[in-house]
Amino acid sequence: AIDIRSLLKDSGYITLDSGYMNTGSCTSAITYLDGGQGILNYRGYAIEDLAENCQFIEVAYLILNGELPNYEQLEQFKRDMRRFALLHEDMIHFFDHFPPNASPMSILSTMVGTLHNFYPEMDDEDDPYGGITVTTARLLSKIRTIAAFSYKKNIGHPLVYPNAKLNYVQNFLNMMFDRPNMPYVIKPEVAMALNKLLILHADHEQNCSTSTVRLVGSAGVNLYASISAGINALWGPLHGGANQAVLEMLELIYADDCNFEKYIEKAKNKQDSFRLSGFGHRVYKTFDPRAKIIKEACHEVLGALDIQDPLLDIALELEERVRNDAYFQERNLYPNVDFYSGIIYRAIGIPTNMFTVMFALGRLPGWIAQWTEMKEDKANARIGRPRQVYTGHTLRPFVPMHERK
Ligand code: ACO
Repeated sequence: AIDIRSLLKDSGYITLDSGYMNTGSCTSAITYLDGGQGILNYRGYAIEDLAENCQFIEVAYLILNGELPNYEQLEQFKRDMRRFALLHEDMIHFFDHFPPNASPMSILSTMVGTLHNFYPEMDDEDDPYGGITVTTARLLSKIRTIAAFSYKKNIGHPLVYPNAKLNYVQNFLNMMFDRPNMPYVIKPEVAMALNKLLILHADHEQNCSTSTVRLVGSAGVNLYASISAGINALWGPLHGGANQAVLEMLELIYADDCNFEKYIEKAKNKQDSFRLSGFGHRVYKTFDPRAKIIKEACHEVLGALDIQDPLLDIALELEERVRNDAYFQERNLYPNVDFYSGIIYRAIGIPTNMFTVMFALGRLPGWIAQWTEMKEDKANARIGRPRQVYTGHTLRPFVPMHERK
């Protein structure tokens, strides 16, 4: 076999592929994605089936372990989710020291990074499920508590602690919305909708945040710090931050007398940095399969909760206009996962500035599985270190201070 790496190493040639349009960074057995046909499978299972039939925690298990859990395995995993849900009280004091209105994403990345100080990683052999260490289970459980606390901090309300009687999704909703003297009643439609959204975000192969997790992890950094870096990458409006940007854009169009053409033309104008958030994808050149499911779920949830949201009408109309517009057709720009998700989040009471945090909760199993897969791939274990093509000065004589202009 030809060892391409050693051939390239000393050849002096560099592959320049800005944005990594066609550069594979690893091999992976977690997620299969066909962007031409709009197919997405986790560990060989179609996301349509998983979203329809599973609990989020079951899909997290599948992504991390490689196989769907049997009944006992799932029960044990759920017990661990309940067991690890609390945060160290000293960590909870940190929430008091963020400024009012601190961004929940910045709180999330900071707090996840600092878990390392409170819950040092367990040894590799402490792996009760196979591929799911105690550290992994802890992180999966605690991120939910951190996310809900960051919201409560953001709005200045007292924290609501996890309740061991509730399942993963219910517990999160309760920590978010329960208030003193105003008990929160968890509607099954709300819990089901959130469960579906989390499943649909659970992994998406080598996207920006996942590649960040792998790259940072390749330097030997601990899991919490690698995930914290991934959370920061996700924050960007071209990535996970797009779900928040979509809602803000729909509100803008609504407030501007539904002047669709103005925003469509603005998005097409190359002198303007404005883009239609929620459209386009690096890999999908057709409808994002997740967006398809989320669009259907949107109708179901709003119907079940009897909510009339004008933003859903705006979104449907915008999608229709974009579908018939040559600019978007030529560039294969279809709705992506972020386009309809915000309308569901809004319907179930999640505030806009928490949308990207919700994405992070869903994506966590994927980040951890990818990080673990990288660590286990001993044959290719080396630090990620891209090359560059230098375009600066050639060597020139040093200029002493008194001669500098
Ligand atoms: N609105 C208007 N034009 C767009 C859009 C858009 N949403 N998306 C892409 N284009 C145009 C670009 O201007 C470019 O046009 P050109 O060829 O005339 O220069 C062409 O389509 C290709 O776009 P690129 O930016 O080169 O595509 P890339 O693969 O690098 O970017 C991305 C993909 C970042 C998702 C882009 O489509 C975008 O910015 N979309 C809006 C933000 C968004 O929804 N992000 C979420 C993505 S999904 C996720 O990360 C969870």
